[in-house]
Amino acid sequence: MTQEQKKRQAAEAALHYLVDDGYLGVGTGSTVNCFIELLAGIRHRIEGAVATSAATEKLLHQYHIPVIPLNSVIDLPVYVDGADEATHNLHLVKGGGGALTREKIVAAASKKFVCIIDDTKLVDVLGRFPLPIEVIPMAQSYVGREIAKLGGQPVLRPGFTTDNGNIIIDVHNLNIMQPAELEARLNNIAGIVTNGLFARRHADVLLVADGDTVKTIT
Ligand code: A5P
Repeated sequence: MTQEQKKRQAAEAALHYLVDDGYLGVGTGSTVNCFIELLAGIRHRIEGAVATSAATEKLLHQYHIPVIPLNSVIDLPVYVDGADEATHNLHLVKGGGGALTREKIVAAASKKFVCIIDDTKLVDVLGRFPLPIEVIPMAQSYVGREIAKLGGQPVLRPGFTTDNGNIIIDVHNLNIMQPAELEARLNNIAGIVTNGLFARRHADVLLVADGDTVKTIT
């Protein structure tokens, strides 16, 4: 089975977590795009979707799935999103698509975060995938120096602007043995809007597709 087929397999499994007549948080990326395609067939079951990016909002509209601003939603029972890396402890690296800030907000606001990945993304220790960090543009150099002090190598994502008008710095070679501590430490650097570690508000359910089955990790 190809990686694309595995993504679809994981996306299919996430449909079981929908709450009828409830709102649904929808992440960003190619795995979630498979999910949106499948969701279209049962869109009447949900009240509406909260999108984590302009790209996701556009796709939801294309499939005639109603999009609701997060500010209009009090109860968000489920959020479905992909990840770039995940551990058995449900800690994630996200932001490969650059939507990490809105993803972190929707994850925080949701009751159950269902993360869908293919098995190539399941790792023992986070950090092989460079850690995305959203940064206010004027803080680029300062943040870069602070990241270097932590042992990481900051690389500006070329030609990329987030939906919030900021830049992304991808940090290579970080030692992420203690993801929750590093997440908090990075959050304290002035100029960083969000970092791509989802350890403090981690996934609640991880669905890992390997081609044969979808493993559920909770
Ligand atoms: C988007 O900003 C990311 O957090 C995605 O969730 C992550 O990059 C996974 O994307 P794919 O499903 O395309 O691999």
